[in-house]
Amino acid sequence: MLLKLSQLSKTYPGTARGEGVPVLGPMDFQMEKGEFLSIVGSSGCGKTTLLRLIAGLEPASQGRICLGGSEVAGHDGRIGMVFQEYALFPWRTALRNIEMGLEMMKVPKDIRRSTAMGYVRAFGLNGFENRFPKELSGGMKQRVAIARTLIMNPTVVLMDEPFASLDSETRHDLQEFLLGVWTERRDTILFVTHNVDEAVHLSDRIMVLSKRPAQILDIFDINLARPRDRTSRRANKIRRKILDRLAGGL
Ligand SMILES: Nc1ncnc2c1ncn2[C@@H]1O[C@H](COP(=O)(O)OP(=O)(O)O)[C@@H](O)[C@H]1O
Ligand SMILES: [Mg+2]
Repeated sequence: MLLKLSQLSKTYPGTARGEGVPVLGPMDFQMEKGEFLSIVGSSGCGKTTLLRLIAGLEPASQGRICLGGSEVAGHDGRIGMVFQEYALFPWRTALRNIEMGLEMMKVPKDIRRSTAMGYVRAFGLNGFENRFPKELSGGMKQRVAIARTLIMNPTVVLMDEPFASLDSETRHDLQEFLLGVWTERRDTILFVTHNVDEAVHLSDRIMVLSKRPAQILDIFDINLARPRDRTSRRANKIRRKILDRLAGGL
């Protein structure tokens, strides 16, 4: 397996008087290379915390995270993250946002420019490469954010509700776009959403989390052929099962 979480848990420190706040786990979980796995769970259950632990942005209270056989401790260049709120640098153009990681790796300018321009073209951003984030639509900003992460070829891509701020039409466009990119590259994607429809449309497997502290209630295999039909009876049945599991709690 590629990614392995063992007895992972997180408790945020309490105030001087209060107890700590248990937010996550303990949790055991494994993920294979090339998998598209979604995590669904109610708001506030600990989904972002889980991604932040894997990304090394937040220390775990207990347990281990292993990637490709070696332990993840703190920031790890093998892990890429896409946030809900774009998190682009407003003073950099689309192109310069996309090439940012390569710049930090001291890749020569002509090479990073041509690599970033490849992403501009492949990601439907042609003609917008010299625009600043405030001049781009929400869908375009999120394409820039995804390109900026994928250009680094991370071993695992974490996505935290990346389409939650988009209107439903743009959201569907971006879902199809992401599926196209994934079909070509076969990145390993851990995708957080609280939209069950989105999870069923995109994923190989779906992990359903309990309310806080998040624990794994179930993991569903989504054996629907691709390209998928959102309106098929089988897709509906799977959605129903997952919604029931979410509503049922522990
Ligand atoms: N830095 C922090 N300190 C204390 N509590 C936190 C902190 N970050 C998040 N929490 C709490 O942890 C819980 C889970 O948060 P989060 O992981 O953001 O949930 P989700 O992404 O599923 O909505 C929430 O109740 C939140 O208030
Ligand atoms: Mg969150």
